[in-house]
Amino acid sequence: MNIEIKDLRFTYPTGLEALKGISLSVNAGEQVAIVGQNGAGKTTLVRHFNGLLRPSAGSVWIGDWDTSKYSVAKLASRVGYVFQNPDEQLFSRDVLTEVAFGPKNLGYEKDKVDALVKRALSLTELNDQTETNPYDLSPTWRKMVALASIIAMDTPIVIFDEPTTGQDAVNVARIANVIAELKKEGKTVITITHDIDFCAENFERVIALSKGEVLLDGPAREVLGQEEILAQTYVDPPQLTRLGKMLGLKATVINQEEFLNALK
Ligand SMILES: Nc1ncnc2c1ncn2[C@@H]1O[C@H](COP(=O)(O)OP(=O)(O)OP(=O)(O)O)[C@@H](O)[C@H]1O
Ligand SMILES: [Mg+2]
Repeated sequence: MNIEIKDLRFTYPTGLEALKGISLSVNAGEQVAIVGQNGAGKTTLVRHFNGLLRPSAGSVWIGDWDTSKYSVAKLASRVGYVFQNPDEQLFSRDVLTEVAFGPKNLGYEKDKVDALVKRALSLTELNDQTETNPYDLSPTWRKMVALASIIAMDTPIVIFDEPTTGQDAVNVARIANVIAELKKEGKTVITITHDIDFCAENFERVIALSKGEVLLDGPAREVLGQEEILAQTYVDPPQLTRLGKMLGLKATVINQEEFLNALK
């Protein structure tokens, strides 16, 4: 399912114009990372995809739906959004109820709900926490519950807002695994991240936002190699990219595999 954004502008009630004319399209099955400094407008942008925010001008289409004409509840069948802060998202007494809420609410039959919940819990390694109150889990595991509850909805488009913030290396690897699995299933995955190494390892396309506008958009290698332009939105290229430049490697490398190949 494609996402089509045309000249999207958004002004908060405070008068702050957070998005200043964004146009982009994302094809079905693409894996896209969104990067950019604090306040660049990343969260504001993705909150338009599931109708949490409505354009002040311009349009956002999810497949053949103009988001301005569909409710958040309707859009939830097409776009799953994992909040930046899980505490804004979670509300159930236990992990199982939380994860089952979304698919039940979409009206799926019991067998389908059970299968989706099981898969989401196993992907996030929460199988043995079904009866735990999410608020008794550490903040990092609450994030995994938030992730599971969205994956369980089986939407064609999944958005992660800063999934790796505050996560240790093992959980970052778990999240990367979830993204790889969703990719295999042909889902569109859009991830906001400040973790550039994570971005370089897991995404083929990178969009850099700066002050409510698209600064760069293209294949990860092209975007992450643009050190000077990225600096405008306070993003540093991956460590290996910088090291490769210092070593005088001709090609821009963005991850371990490319770095090692370029050294050979
Ligand atoms: N509810 C709100 N009311 C008014 N202004 C807001 C609101 N939410 C965000 N903003 C402002 O809109 C701009 C864009 O914020 P947004 O949260 O989209 O940025 P972001 O790129 O997600 O930043 P971060 O990396 O810190 O999460 C910022 O200047 C922010 O202060
Ligand atoms: Mg944000």
